[in-house]
Amino acid sequence: MSLEIINIKNLTKKELDQVLELDHLCFGGLWSLDGYKREIESPNSCLLVLTIDINNTEKVIGLGCFWSILEEAHLTILAIHPDFQGQGFGKLLLTKLLKEAQNKSLERATLEVGENNIKALSLYEKFGFKEAGRRKKYYKSTGEDALILWKQFEIK
Ligand SMILES: CC(C)(COP(=O)(O)OP(=O)(O)OC[C@H]1O[C@@H](n2cnc3c(N)ncnc32)[C@H](O)[C@@H]1OP(=O)(O)O)[C@@H](O)C(=O)NCCC(=O)NCCS
Repeated sequence: MSLEIINIKNLTKKELDQVLELDHLCFGGLWSLDGYKREIESPNSCLLVLTIDINNTEKVIGLGCFWSILEEAHLTILAIHPDFQGQGFGKLLLTKLLKEAQNKSLERATLEVGENNIKALSLYEKFGFKEAGRRKKYYKSTGEDALILWKQFEIK
C-alpha cells in the first residue's frame, strides 16, 4: 500500500456512499442519506471529510461536523474509520474543525460524549474541553449517560 496524500475538505455528494459506510461502522447509522444531504445544503453546518489517497483511490477515513448556533460550535460528529484509529487522524480533524469554528468567529465549542468513551474523552480533554453537565441515559441503546463538554476559544 502506498499512502500519499491526506486531505480535509467539505463533504460533497461524491463522498456520500463512503460517509454512510463510515457512519455505520462508527455509530451504527446515526444519520441517513437524506440527513447528510441536508447537512451539505445547510449554511449552519460545517461537515468535513478526511480522505487519504491509496494507490490513486480516494478513501474517506474521517468525518467531522459542527453546527453554528449563535456564537457556539455544536460538534455533532467526529469519527475515524476503525482501521485508521490511533494514528493521529482524530486530532488532525478536530484541530481543523475548531479552526473552522474560530474562523467563523464562534466563541466556544460544545459536544456530548458517552461517559465510557475513553478514547474520545481523552482526546477532548487534550484539546481543553471541560465537563459542564451530564444527560442521564442519553444513549437509548446502552443506557449510557452523556457528558456535556465545553471549550472556550482563546481571544485572537
Ligand atoms: C474518538 C476518535 C475520533 C479518536 O480518533 P483517533 O484517530 O483514534 O485519535 P488519535 O489517534 O488522533 O488520538 C487522539 C487522542 O485520543 C486518545 N486515544 C486514542 N486512542 C486511544 C486509546 N486506544 N485509548 C485511550 N485513548 C486513546 C488519546 O488521548 C490520543 O492522544 P495521544 O495520541 O496524544 O495519546 C475515534 O476513536 C473514533 O472515531 N471513535 C468512534 C466514534 C466516536 O466515538 N466518536 C466520538 C463521538 S463524541
